[in-house]
Amino acid sequence: MDLQLTGKRALVTGSNSGIGVAAARRLAEEGARVIVHGRNQQRAEAVAADICASGHDAIAITGDLSTQQGCDALWQAVEAAMGGLDILINNAGGSDDATRTWETSHWPDWIEEFEMNAGSAMRMTEHALPGMIAQKWGRIINVSSAQATMPFPHSSPGYNAVKAGIINTTTSLARTYGKHGITINCISPGPVDSAVFREFALDLPPLRGKTFEEAEPFLANKWGVSAGRLGQPDDLAGAFTFLASPKARFINGVTLRVDGGMCGFINV
Ligand SMILES: NC(=O)c1ccc[n+]([C@@H]2O[C@H](COP(=O)([O-])OP(=O)(O)OC[C@H]3O[C@@H](n4cnc5c(N)ncnc54)[C@H](OP(=O)(O)O)[C@@H]3O)[C@@H](O)[C@H]2O)c1
Repeated sequence: MDLQLTGKRALVTGSNSGIGVAAARRLAEEGARVIVHGRNQQRAEAVAADICASGHDAIAITGDLSTQQGCDALWQAVEAAMGGLDILINNAGGSDDATRTWETSHWPDWIEEFEMNAGSAMRMTEHALPGMIAQKWGRIINVSSAQATMPFPHSSPGYNAVKAGIINTTTSLARTYGKHGITINCISPGPVDSAVFREFALDLPPLRGKTFEEAEPFLANKWGVSAGRLGQPDDLAGAFTFLASPKARFINGVTLRVDGGMCGFINV
């Protein structure tokens, strides 16, 4: 299927590692002109160079998105490089300490998690919307988490809460901007084997000292991932590219779980 992404201008925030790399690479393979982003410049440039070496179009722009200033600076650089965006993937996020509990997390940690996950996404969305409205076409994809709807006691409550808020915001934006030819959807990953996830998972008490290969079946079973394994970043790439494409034009405001069948409740 031709996803009709040739020449589309795409920014994938947080694409110098993990899930974002796979999304950026697949968009570029589908013909999009991609901006690879993260805070670490060396990794962003390496990902962009790798995409270009395969004959596709990518550049790297770096910056911290947890502040208004950082988001403004990234937007200025995006405009200078591409004159605006057709596709914005708000993937940057996570938690500085995913193992925080109700006992160990305090309001400043919540603020930090909100700035990193929602602040980055909402500020970049604000920047991207006027151009998308003017051109009557745009795609915004937010990234939530299975933890948003199925919070684990061992994962940060602030992170879980902000990821739930991102789901709500997605539908709210979709209801407001759908009339402009813009869709705003959300992808909700289950556990995905990125470097940060490995660090978190292999530090869980029963798994300390184990390799990822030893830990994976235990985790998939414990968390009820019906696929029997954890996700790889590339398992999400197809969902990103499809939702970003003109083919997905009547899908708006949804949260698509890409979790190997982990969440055991009906999607509403
Ligand atoms: N892996 C999972 O199991 C999983 C599950 C559910 C949801 N998610 C979500 O999926 C997204 C990607 O996660 P991942 O596992 O692929 O993690 P990752 O490999 O750590 O990627 C996170 C990306 O976000 C960037 N980033 C983080 N904070 C930033 C900030 N303040 N300003 C700018 N960039 C920032 C990082 O860049 P630098 O490294 O250069 O800072 C990196 O490129 C996140 O939103 C995460 O919450 C992941």
